[in-house]
Amino acid sequence: MARNHPATRAEHLDGVSDVTPPGPKGLPYFGCLDGLLRNPMKFWHGIAVRYGGIARVPLKGRHVYLISDPDLLYELLVTKRRRYRKNTRYRVAVEVLGEGLLLTEGDAWKRQRLITQPTFKADYVARQVSWMAQDISSFLDRWERVADQGIAVDTESEFLDLSQRIAGRYLMGPGFERIADRFCRAAVEIKNLWPLPPKSAIHALVRRSDGWTPQLERAVRDIDACVYEYIESERPGNFEDCGVLGQLVQASREQGDEFPPESLRAQLLTLFFAGHETSSASLTWIHYLLHEHPEVRAKLKQEVETVVGSRVPAAEDVDALLYTEQVVNESLRLYSPIHSISRVALEDDTIGGYAIPAGSTIYVSLYAVHRLPQLWPDPHRFDPERFEPQNSAARPRFAFIPFAAGHRNCIGGSMAMTELKLAVAQLAQRYVLELVPGHKVAQAAGTTMHPRYGMQMYVRRS
Ligand code: HEM
Repeated sequence: MARNHPATRAEHLDGVSDVTPPGPKGLPYFGCLDGLLRNPMKFWHGIAVRYGGIARVPLKGRHVYLISDPDLLYELLVTKRRRYRKNTRYRVAVEVLGEGLLLTEGDAWKRQRLITQPTFKADYVARQVSWMAQDISSFLDRWERVADQGIAVDTESEFLDLSQRIAGRYLMGPGFERIADRFCRAAVEIKNLWPLPPKSAIHALVRRSDGWTPQLERAVRDIDACVYEYIESERPGNFEDCGVLGQLVQASREQGDEFPPESLRAQLLTLFFAGHETSSASLTWIHYLLHEHPEVRAKLKQEVETVVGSRVPAAEDVDALLYTEQVVNESLRLYSPIHSISRVALEDDTIGGYAIPAGSTIYVSLYAVHRLPQLWPDPHRFDPERFEPQNSAARPRFAFIPFAAGHRNCIGGSMAMTELKLAVAQLAQRYVLELVPGHKVAQAAGTTMHPRYGMQMYVRRS
């Protein structure tokens, strides 16, 4: 795409360019705001298809940039990463979550990332498989009654509950059980009260508040009380068997600068919120796609029967479930729970030979990259065979980035893949989910890309 664009020649010797990328004109002042707010996934995809690997888009009297070409993404997220910072779009996010991994920069971010990293490495994740699989089994037990009674469930909220409990235990250890009900109830409230981006330019104009409401404040107070109580209750036992929390305390102590409770709270809540809604949205979309593609579901079930049989899966099984992984990957391609990320340029720069002025906002729409016809033939078709090794070999690495890429990529990628593969395989051992006839399915852009009307499905025993 943009790799061979003539603009590369316009780059000056000092690496600065005055060539602006192509892009739409938009309306006076508002530019393309309305299209973006109405459906960001569709909007960015349209821009990427029409204007290529880099585009400049007018928005509220300024210009923002969209980068979609894998080579240019490499430039932005890897080689020139120091020239950009993350874009924290909503102040309220910082106020609710505090200074955790997702929202910090510089040395504070680096210290947290290095200390947290060991608990998200593949070998650590593999050691968590036995309790994760047991928890998934217990969760699936409760569907037996629903299956026998032929009642439909909203799988989105069911999977939210599952992924909350897995994230909570992963982050805080088995003792999380003691606070799980209160903690998860407050977390659901925070999620429901979370201020969403306006839906159109008109909404943006009339909205006055920044989203803080007394209800949101109360829910944050509730969740804070749970976390602080939990931290203090685990202190006498020296945070033994406390998952990521234990690691945060021990490693920061070894550095002679133990994280105070407020910092532990910020880090735990950040990881919890970054790590559960994404997984539950993925599980919901995966099972919608399996409903739509019974031939894929049959093949997946066949693999689970061959590899795992009717046992509770073990860590080795997770590695051996190759087709299941292809199904998960193909679902993440089409329905990336994080549909877009953004960065802010710290200085004048060039990407692909095009000028990016300091202060500009750069968007990367994972949704658009994952549906570009030049990277993904027949891009809207669900086809897990795309991820067969022989079909992936020629594809650029940055063509598939559901967990982003570069130094600010998702720390929880291995954990998420393990959780998703386990849940999909264990569900296939016991049940088939069928969409309630007539239930409307549409994508909505919230904090994650989720089904706008939930996902009502019947649970049938398989
Ligand atoms: C299917 C599940 C998941 C998806 C699709 C996903 C996706 C992403 C993406 C795209 C980013 C980059 C955001 C940006 O650059 O603005 C990210 C960052 C992050 N994710 Fe995930 N994520 C998932 C699960 C998890 C889990 C399970 C955890 C932890 C329990 C987690 C924790 C984080 C954190 C802390 C960051 C910020 C990392 C940093 O800036 O250093 N995520 N995730």
